[in-house]
Amino acid sequence: MTGNLAVVILAAGKSTRFKSTTTKLLHTLCGKPMIGWVLDSVLPLNPAQIIVVYGESSKKLLESYSSTYKGIQLDFVIQEPPLGTGHALLQAESKLGEAASKILVLPGDTPQLTVAVLEALIDASPEANGGPAVLTAVAPDPTGYGRIVRGDSGVVGQIVEELDCSEEQQAITEINSGIYLFNRNVFDQLRESAKIHGQENTKGEYYLPQVVELAQTKAVLAGFQDICGVNDRIALAEAENALLQTIRQQWMCEGVTFRLPETTYIEHSVQLAEDVEIGPHCVLTGTTTIGTGTRLVQGCLLESCRIGENCELRHVRGTEAVVGNNIYAGPYVNLRPGTILRDNVKVGNFVETKNSDIGEGSKLPHLQYIGDATLGEGCNIGAGTIFCNYDGFSKKQTKLGDGVFIGSNSSLQGGITIGKGGYVAMGSAITKDVPENALAVGRARQENKLDYVPKLKKRLQQQKDELAKQTQADEGGSK
Ligand code: UD1
Ligand code: CA
Repeated sequence: MTGNLAVVILAAGKSTRFKSTTTKLLHTLCGKPMIGWVLDSVLPLNPAQIIVVYGESSKKLLESYSSTYKGIQLDFVIQEPPLGTGHALLQAESKLGEAASKILVLPGDTPQLTVAVLEALIDASPEANGGPAVLTAVAPDPTGYGRIVRGDSGVVGQIVEELDCSEEQQAITEINSGIYLFNRNVFDQLRESAKIHGQENTKGEYYLPQVVELAQTKAVLAGFQDICGVNDRIALAEAENALLQTIRQQWMCEGVTFRLPETTYIEHSVQLAEDVEIGPHCVLTGTTTIGTGTRLVQGCLLESCRIGENCELRHVRGTEAVVGNNIYAGPYVNLRPGTILRDNVKVGNFVETKNSDIGEGSKLPHLQYIGDATLGEGCNIGAGTIFCNYDGFSKKQTKLGDGVFIGSNSSLQGGITIGKGGYVAMGSAITKDVPENALAVGRARQENKLDYVPKLKKRLQQQKDELAKQTQADEGGSK
């Protein structure tokens, strides 16, 4: 937007109410750290500079963002010790570029912020002679926020922190968002404010909101949801819920159907095509993409998976799996990392795959473990087949040519190859390669003993009777 706009994000707080070993600003909402949401809301403004004030307790911010965010340089400045939001903003002065004439100040804990709200704030303070402005909102429950005390002609007279409020002030529902647009003279005003007020308040801090008393500050009203701050885990859950609803509704506008939408957890980075249908109780995370016409019927958990078009998945758990077009999978399928299902593959119930490339049109209908394998096209794997890929020391790769048929309840030793058209008889333990078109039988031959059963039953009955007699005799003797 402007080459003279500098953004300062205050991120040196101790996150006391969050009760965490990590700064709350790195806790995620829909897969994105809290501070990431704030940064994303300011990037479209194209600011000349973004300064992040961090502290001892939020050092990890420095490591996590290694001074750039989405290609934009971030300037970090430390506030140590953290003596309040006013003191935090003062630390940014030394980093401020000469051209910066407007300073947008934000806390790091307002993840629901949008660029539209920030633009309204900036518009309220025109370049030429605009004074400072603050975003405010009418809160359904103002507890925990600074209250806006309006002065003459509606300007902001004072901002009073909750703990320092009189009873009358506590009843005010217009609250301070902690988001301000200042002119460069704010630093002089902060020093002056510190002289007047010092740290004389309940928290013993230098309060940034007190500078409004030294300038004609405009209040710009926003929606409460846009600016609400996340101080504890309850607020985190509420904010994430609201963001989830926004994400789902954005996808609905792009032609995605959600059934029981409030039961779908979807991260910000997921991509969905038109005519995707998401049934109840799905979790979609990371870089998951889903192609057009695909239905997640119910209960799918997909973590960074690539799913093709016109698939039908029921109760599928996929992690970094690549799924082609027209796949049917489920219920209760576990597609682990390295799984590739080529087009028209069918995967039935209780099947686990890992690091395996399953050729076009192959069928894994039920109860299989397929690990470290390559299957050609049109293979059919019987129920209960296990690819024994691990011998306790190393993983071995198994290869099946096109059209291979594996009979039910077979085990395939890792490292073997079954040639095109090979056929494994059911119940086999296959330990050697099978040539093309060969039938492999890897089990003991069946023997039928004719009329043997009556003799067997007679013998077993005699044994049982003798045992009973013996027991009786033993008990009689011991009386
Ligand atoms: C602050 C405002 C309050 C406003 C609310 C909006 C003050 C004194 N109060 O209260 O009027 O209604 O935000 O959400 O400003 N931080 C520092 N250094 C510090 C202290 C805080 O960088 O010494 C940072 C925090 O990391 C945080 C932001 O400033 O990102 C706000 O601090 P927080 O403790 O959340 O302030 P609130 O009590 O919410
Ligand atoms: Ca806060």
